[in-house]
Amino acid sequence: MPATAMRILKYDWSGSQLETTGISKSQVAALAGQLESIRDQVARDELELFHSGGKIPAAQQPLDAAFVDLPERILASYEADRTGSELGRILAVAHRLKDEVDSVVVLGIGGSYMGARALMEACCHPYHNLLSRSDRGGQPRVFFEGNNVDNDAAQGLIDLLSSPSNTESPAGHWGIVVISKSGETLETAASFRIFFDALVANCGGDEKRAAELTVPVTGRQGKLFELSKALGCSETFRVPDGVGGRFSILSPVGLVPAALMGVDVIQLLRGAVTMNELFRTAPYDDNPALAYVAVSHLMEKHRGANLRLLSVWAKSLEAVGLWYDQLLAESLGKDERGATPLTVLNTRDLHSRAQQHQEGARDKLITNVIVEQWRRDPIELHTNDQDQDGLNRLVGTALPEIMSAATNGTNRAYRDAGRCTADITLPAVDESSLGQLFQMLMLATVVEGRLIGINPYGQPGVEAYKQHMKKNLGMD
Ligand code: PA5
Repeated sequence: MPATAMRILKYDWSGSQLETTGISKSQVAALAGQLESIRDQVARDELELFHSGGKIPAAQQPLDAAFVDLPERILASYEADRTGSELGRILAVAHRLKDEVDSVVVLGIGGSYMGARALMEACCHPYHNLLSRSDRGGQPRVFFEGNNVDNDAAQGLIDLLSSPSNTESPAGHWGIVVISKSGETLETAASFRIFFDALVANCGGDEKRAAELTVPVTGRQGKLFELSKALGCSETFRVPDGVGGRFSILSPVGLVPAALMGVDVIQLLRGAVTMNELFRTAPYDDNPALAYVAVSHLMEKHRGANLRLLSVWAKSLEAVGLWYDQLLAESLGKDERGATPLTVLNTRDLHSRAQQHQEGARDKLITNVIVEQWRRDPIELHTNDQDQDGLNRLVGTALPEIMSAATNGTNRAYRDAGRCTADITLPAVDESSLGQLFQMLMLATVVEGRLIGINPYGQPGVEAYKQHMKKNLGMD
């Protein structure tokens, strides 16, 4: 695999911002040995233990380590068997549905939703669902439900899907991708029942046809698995064993919806493989995941920065930030510890949150995610006879330059005020860079968990609300 052809995202923590906040480079370097040995534990020992199939010691459970080498394994199976492999089947289903439906509803919540949403916002046209079928390259519109039990939102989508004016050929049909690892999550299950009924109606009462247009992604057993069999869904994909929900974006959980949207899933996986190679081999200061953990940990431990801001400088990355919010919150928010994540979208939030970041409590680490190369040609300001706004002096200046001025200006202002920032530079918002970023943040989260003695896998705290909700509904 030509990893060298890929442009690598850069994590830059070495600016004077660090020193102005009291964290020294020598403090960061002092962590190097510990981080590199945790890296070996995560990239090698835990993975070997998981794949050995032996009994996982109680103290290490749950151990959902299988996400680490999942991209390599998916790509290797695909290389070996282009049609019969899981990725081959995913691409085939996406191809079939592209011909058969004009819209797809993706049902899922938490880790069974956030990744697909992030991929759509990052990779698709910002107005994908509003484009004509041909401007979408024939890819279906994609809607998300099952991430709530909001009556009016669900009904609104059913209205939209049932309206003939809103579904173009072929045949005015739509489809469902229903995703739940456990197959038990009530929000997803209730939505599936409601949307499947609506789909059967859309198919003129033909349940068999509706099942052909439904793609379940679930665990090897469970209620959704059984239901899919009973309905006769022709293609069901597995959430792999040992991959936790919020670590599943590069499994069928993210890949099935992504393929339907026309995302280049092979490049996405290759990006993750590139990050894995770096993670396994690079010393901590050239290793984005380890350096990110070092800075985040030291800022939290010594400077009280228990708010972790991912400050994204492209609209297309906001849902990536929200995906990371879940990853960090559910993984490390345990035992009354763990930093609190917050996604900030700039320049929008410069006009809402930045005042607090500049002058509020000193409890934040701001990590910028900066885009090096925009996808579209730069839009320049042109001269105008009406110069009341004074913008003729910016003639020839393009939006990316204005964005850079805002980013650099904000970093400068924060540095002058002793507010810590670090930068992640994405070569572009494309599949390769995103694959690297997702894998980097997942690896970093596990390393940080091991560093502070918190098991990053599992989310025991979420169970309590589920039990109460089911009890309130008389379901226990
Ligand atoms: O990260 C996790 O494991 C959770 O956020 C789950 O993804 C979420 O609770 C949904 O679970 P399921 O996929 O079993 O429906």
